[in-house]
Formats: sequence, C-alpha cells, structure tokens
Amino acid sequence: MNANIKYIGCDDAEMDLFESQYVTPEGMCYNSYLILDEKIAVMDSVDPRKTGEWLQNLSAALDGRTPDYLIVQHMEPDHSGSLKAFRETYPNATIVASEKALTFMAQFNEGTDFGPTMAVKEGDTLSLGVRTLQFIAAPMIHWPEVIVTYCPEEKTLFSADAFGKFGVKDADPDDWACEARRYYFNICGKYGMPVTTLLKKASALDIQTICPLHGPILKGEQLAEALRLYTIWGSYGVETEGVLVAHASIHGNTKKAAEKLAEILQAKGAKKVVLADLCRDDMAEVIEDAFRMNKLVVCASSYDADVFPPMHMFLWKLKMKAYQNRTVGILENGSWAPSAGKAMRAILEQLKNVNIVEPTVTIRSSMKQADLPAMEALADAILK
Ligand code: FEO
Repeated sequence: MNANIKYIGCDDAEMDLFESQYVTPEGMCYNSYLILDEKIAVMDSVDPRKTGEWLQNLSAALDGRTPDYLIVQHMEPDHSGSLKAFRETYPNATIVASEKALTFMAQFNEGTDFGPTMAVKEGDTLSLGVRTLQFIAAPMIHWPEVIVTYCPEEKTLFSADAFGKFGVKDADPDDWACEARRYYFNICGKYGMPVTTLLKKASALDIQTICPLHGPILKGEQLAEALRLYTIWGSYGVETEGVLVAHASIHGNTKKAAEKLAEILQAKGAKKVVLADLCRDDMAEVIEDAFRMNKLVVCASSYDADVFPPMHMFLWKLKMKAYQNRTVGILENGSWAPSAGKAMRAILEQLKNVNIVEPTVTIRSSMKQADLPAMEALADAILK
C-alpha cells in the first residue's frame, strides 16, 4: 500500500466452504490494515482461523509501537473473530465501532470486557494526527451494524464487505468481477437498496483507493469498473443481455428438453444462452448468472406433487436474494400429473416485477416432436 497504510490481513488458501455454504476453490482472505500516524489505528481483525498469523503481521508492521485504536467495521466472525486476542494483547487500545457492533461484540464474547470502547455513528470523525477517519453508516452491507471509513488525506475508503470477493487476496488479478459477482449476489444480493445508498454517499467523496475486507485493494481502472458494476448490481439492472436456462432433471429427460430449448433460443438469435444444471453445478454460480442476465427459463421435473427439490432450492434462493425486474419462462415435465409448473409459478409470482411469459411448456416423460411447437412459442415469447 504505502508507508503509512500497511496491509496486515491473511490469506486462507485452505478455506474450502466460506460461511459453510459457498465453495471457494481459490480460498479466501480476511483483510486488515494498519494506519500509522501520530496515533495508530488497526482496521478490523480477521477470522479466528488466522488469529496467530494476524497478530504476527500486526506486531511486525507496528515495529515496536502500540496501536491506539482498533476500528471494527463489521462484526461477522470472519472479521471480528480475533477481537478477544487483540484485547488480550493490547489492553489499552480503544475499540471503535457502531453502538450496534458493540452490542454484537458482547453477544459473541460472553464474559469478555472489551473496554475501553468508543461508539461512533454516521458523520463522526477521529483524528489520528495528520490523517482523519470519517465514519459512514452502511447498514445491511452486509449486517446492520456496519460502518465504512473514509480517510480524506489518503483518498481511501475502507469499505468493509462491499467490493469484496472470494479467493485469496491476489487470486485472479485480471478478473476481479467473476468472483466478486458470485460473492455480491449470494452475500449482499438482497440488499440492493442499502448498496445504492452507500454508492450515493461514496459519490460525494474523492476515492482513489478502496480497501475491502476481502479480495484485492482497488485502484485506477479496476476501481472504476468495480463502481460501474456495483451500480448495476445494486439496482438489479442487467449486466449482460442473455437467457439463463436452468434445469433440474431426475433422469435426464428434462435436461434434454432444456438443451433443446437452448438450441432453439440460439437459432432464434438470442445474444447469449447459458445452460445450468441445478443438480450438479455450483448453485451460487447459477444464482449469479440469473442476476447477471435479463431472462431466465426454469425447466424441472415434477416431484411429490410439487417441483424437484434442486429447482425449489434455486427459486427459493432467488426469492431470498430479491431477484426482480426479469422475464421468466417455465418448462415442466410430468409423467402422470405434472405439478412442477404450478409450483415454480407460485414462487415466481411472489417476485417483484418478474414477467412470466406464456406458454408454460409441459412435456410428458420425455420431449417429443409434438412438443417442439410449444417450445418454439416459449422461445419466441422469451426473446420478444
Ligand atoms: Fe466478510 Fe459479512 O463478512
């Protein structure tokens, strides 16, 4: 970074399932920073998996000095998991956090006295000497207690989880968006409105560097691109014109119909068609693609007078993440009493501004020549 702001975070290459739910083939990192001034501030701690390494990084960067403040921007344990160890090592440093974060601190650490502490809120500042920290409330990015911190003298925003990504810090240096998008829609996707509010606050600041709690430090073109994408993502806008065809197939016949539908869509001039197998693909990746594109076709087998569970999970997650402003088509399969279409529609109808096109295609056991006209009609309706 520079002589006065040092990176003291930790890579966790062995982390394979972040939050016990997201596969992380390139590991994860927990970022933390040290601001050296007349007073010294530490920006967040790290996951308890890396407490020892973090304390070593901190001690080395301090070079014999002692921290005056620990700024806690977010209380989720991947960042607050080393607070107790910090307090034991540096008993006199003041822990600075929102009122709510101080409440969470006590909830997570029964019996630990974290004093001295200082509660801060939107608009409060803390002078370190030459540098100032300005605190900005960022509720629901991604918990309610979150603050982000702007240092005007360094033109730097410490952005908490915002602008984070999966992977160790310098994984995919030329492709921030891929794992940042999967991270965003699965972790912050529900909170588009708070993200848009934060972007509005950020637009009033001169920001040349973003220091998130996960992923690389953003500057220059990469920073501009990250802001551009966050503006689309936060407003549930369309990043890529295209159709996601997501299927959940028990014995492969629904999958064959989905593949045929993708072929028809391509033949009719769809700009981009992506097929996703909800039984085998990473669900978080499919969720990301659903938000990335403007159109979706869901194809599923009927099951227990409902819909095959992998599709139910997918639609339930879309609902949970506030999927909206999209065009959706339905293809169901059923051998005796098709029920998947009705079950999928029941969830889709609960979503904001989702246009369900007709016809719903029903295939019986396997796709036949006679099904093609309805599939063509569905493709036409989706592409209209
Ligand atoms: Fe990286 Fe919401 O914790």
